[in-house]
Amino acid sequence: MGDVHFSRERAGKVVVLIFFWMLSLISLSCAARLSVSRQKLQVQNHLNRLNKPAVKTIQSPDGDIIDCVHLARQPAFDHPFLKDHKIQMRPSYHPEGLFDENKVSDTEKPKKGSNPITQLWHMNGKCPEGTIPIRRTKEEDVLRASSVKSYGRKKHRATPQPRSADPDLINESGHQHAIAYVEGDKYYGAKATINVWEPKIQQPNEFSLSQLWILGGSFGEDLNSIEAGWQVSPDLYGDNNTRLFTYWTSDAYQATGCYNLLCSGFIQINSEIAMGASISPVSAYRNSQYDISILVWKDPKEGHWWMQFGNDYVLGYWPSFLFSYLADSASMIEWGGEVVNSEPDGRHTSTQMGSGRFPEEGFGKSSYFRNIQVVDDSNNLKAPKGLGTFTEQSNCYDVQTGSNGDWGHYFYYGGPGKNPNCP
Ligand SMILES: *[C@@H]1O[C@H](CO)[C@@H](O)[C@H](O)[C@H]1NC(C)=O
Ligand SMILES: *[C@@H]1O[C@H](CO)[C@@H](O)[C@H](O)[C@H]1NC(C)=O
Repeated sequence: MGDVHFSRERAGKVVVLIFFWMLSLISLSCAARLSVSRQKLQVQNHLNRLNKPAVKTIQSPDGDIIDCVHLARQPAFDHPFLKDHKIQMRPSYHPEGLFDENKVSDTEKPKKGSNPITQLWHMNGKCPEGTIPIRRTKEEDVLRASSVKSYGRKKHRATPQPRSADPDLINESGHQHAIAYVEGDKYYGAKATINVWEPKIQQPNEFSLSQLWILGGSFGEDLNSIEAGWQVSPDLYGDNNTRLFTYWTSDAYQATGCYNLLCSGFIQINSEIAMGASISPVSAYRNSQYDISILVWKDPKEGHWWMQFGNDYVLGYWPSFLFSYLADSASMIEWGGEVVNSEPDGRHTSTQMGSGRFPEEGFGKSSYFRNIQVVDDSNNLKAPKGLGTFTEQSNCYDVQTGSNGDWGHYFYYGGPGKNPNCP
């Protein structure tokens, strides 16, 4: 009797235990499902914010979807300060003379026989006038980022800091550079013609880019930066294609700014060039060479920072109010390459910069920036005075400047990363 009673009590305890165990399992899986669906919802909301209704959609051969979005519905107008902004359809001033859409200076016309660089998606259509082409963000693009918030953003301390106060900091960030730069004056823009390559990336979380930086403020908390060039970034785009990009920040990459049109800020007016779209063709070793021209300048009348791609495409502008220091002028200009080294323990990645070849190899082998210029306070393009160079580890990536009649001020830059001298 006593025994039966005992085992009944035990059985009762076991039942209660099983009950709570199942309850906890159910609640665990509910919580997991809830957090998965919460993340899905977060991603979906972000996609809805980023991807604006399209007037027309073009499928690019590289897998991109290009949405032609009405000018007035572009991401810039999500910015609270831009609610009542009247789009400026052309700059008031241009460093190469009063801006005229139909006039391209003869010296800048593409030479006979050289193929102009275009974007891959042009093969399958055009965006109608009054719209701008925007590379559609897909769910997998956002899911590749470490968080929804970090999608389209750079991590801190990515900007090359020549003569940094703390050299350890430079290596610590994993970002490596080979650049030329000027400082110590007031700058109102910069120009360069940049050789286009498709550097190999060792790991998807690394990238390789070639760009110009327009900088104001200090490298600490309040750096203002406008950046433009080409990049290969598997994390950001999901492939190894060379893509046109821009970036901006007004607080050293902390809370403001993003790549391309992935946040509100840049106002695009051009219907032919999509930020973040693949550039084609790219240069080949000892073979055809291709380059792109980028000009960024501050319109003396409105104060906005305008960007031109090639000779024909004025892409749009960053409104002056986005910035603090750059609302007045830039204090430093940099040109060159940047890669991320994610190898631990002082080892080096084999991610390439530029063509993956060192400057010594020269034209057709090493990558170059040519005709580098700055815009002065009279809105004129000028040769850079006192051009300096900087690289963290010249055995991995290097830079060499020069000047001649044809190319003005130029430099070769880049390298293979990991090699016997850069283990
Ligand atoms: C970065 O680290 C490398 C290898 O440890 C070293 O040779 C180089 O001088 C460092 N660069 C700076 C700027 O400290
Ligand atoms: C990108 O290139 C790397 C090697 O450089 C390769 O392993 C990877 O599969 C490529 N990714 C894509 C999406 O093609």
